[in-house]
Amino acid sequence: MTKLLGVIGDPISHSMSPLIHNGWLRDMGYDAVYEAMHVPNGTFDEALETLARRDVMGINVTLPHKQSALKAALEVSDAASKIGAANTLTYLGQRSWRADNTDAPGFLSALGQVNPDTEHVLVLGAGGSARAVVLALVQAGCRVTILNRTVAKAEELAGTLGSDNTAYGSIDQYKEYCSQATIVVNTTSIGYDGKTIELPEGGDRLFFDISYGKISARQLAHAQEMGWRTKDGLSMLVAQAAFSFEIWFGEKPDFDAALRRCTNALKAIS
Ligand code: ATR
Repeated sequence: MTKLLGVIGDPISHSMSPLIHNGWLRDMGYDAVYEAMHVPNGTFDEALETLARRDVMGINVTLPHKQSALKAALEVSDAASKIGAANTLTYLGQRSWRADNTDAPGFLSALGQVNPDTEHVLVLGAGGSARAVVLALVQAGCRVTILNRTVAKAEELAGTLGSDNTAYGSIDQYKEYCSQATIVVNTTSIGYDGKTIELPEGGDRLFFDISYGKISARQLAHAQEMGWRTKDGLSMLVAQAAFSFEIWFGEKPDFDAALRRCTNALKAIS
């Protein structure tokens, strides 16, 4: 029987996860299909019931259900528990699920080699996405500073997921910290409003915006003008998908093929 996989969220029509996973399923010859499912706020548990009846194999979970996914799971991975959110559910049978979070390893894999002895990473933002980013960086042994508009959220994040090498403060101080950092990661949703964070000279340091497409385009163009090396969130999106796929099938899919498909799809709509 054809196995069912998918992603649930609201909104969901923009999701590139079906493109990524169906490409892998096809290339690797699995008899499975990956669907985007529109599940409005407040209907998450019902959706899980329906999926259990359809004998689903696993699902990805995106906004606004990442916390609900954690609560609904019988088994929870260490990363999902620490982050307080799950993006991957695996069906265990008998209406039971296992929750994982592949955003943290996905971010680290997209970031590439980091040297914890020399890296000082400035994380802008302290929302849901920042939690995965901070956990990954702290586990990699990096020195991290978290700056946020609401300082209390940066303080809470540094307190719960940080190490002795983690600091926090107000986003108003970002220029001062930008000059000290070796890597800057933007997790804020400022780009959604068409705004950009004005950067100082980059001097070939890395500016990683975890958004992609039109949302990050203006910010990354500015960063490049200021001499930063840049990375957008597309490689993180594909890497977190690859870790989910590996959880479900026990096999690593082709990262580069999926990244190419996503890049082409984004070009086609821009
Ligand atoms: P996500 O799940 O994508 O991380 P989120 O949890 O809503 O989204 O977090 C959005 C982040 O962008 C937060 O850190 C938010 O700051 P606050 O915690 O103070 O709300 C930040 N953000 C959004 N708009 C911003 C703006 N105009 N200026 C500065 N920070 C902003």
